[in-house]
Amino acid sequence: GRLLIVHGPNLNLLGTREPEIYGSDTLEDVNELCRSTAARYGLEIETVQSNHEGVLVDAIQAARGAVDGIVINPAAYTHTSVAIADALAAVDLPVVEVHLSNVHAREEFRKHSYVSPLASAVIAGAGITGYRFAVEHLAAQLRG
Ligand code: DQA
Repeated sequence: GRLLIVHGPNLNLLGTREPEIYGSDTLEDVNELCRSTAARYGLEIETVQSNHEGVLVDAIQAARGAVDGIVINPAAYTHTSVAIADALAAVDLPVVEVHLSNVHAREEFRKHSYVSPLASAVIAGAGITGYRFAVEHLAAQLRG
């Protein structure tokens, strides 16, 4: 099995970006955590990060038939992007939405997600451990 891990805008700055909110681990650390967790279940991962909405849409479209599930932190696009939500609906794969911070404890505009209605699970506020939970959830779901 194979999982696609999708990182939205500004997550390339993880580790240096508002560390009091997002922690000090880097995106490489997150990808390594996903890789090692997936490996425990015999799963492989591919990862993509982009600051561009269309690049993320293309990556999600390409996942159709190529992977068995998607872990996505759409970052700011969570709250704005119908295009990313439509792409996720189109590929019809199990999706887990992850946020490092507890989006419900922050500004009002972070409480709404276009992605959540399509997600089989939503994890927010667990920091990078949320990605481990996400991979474990998909692994359990794929095993049936
Ligand atoms: C985020 C939360 C979003 O509101 C924000 O725009 C991000 C990161 C998180 O992981 O907590 O960029 O998705």
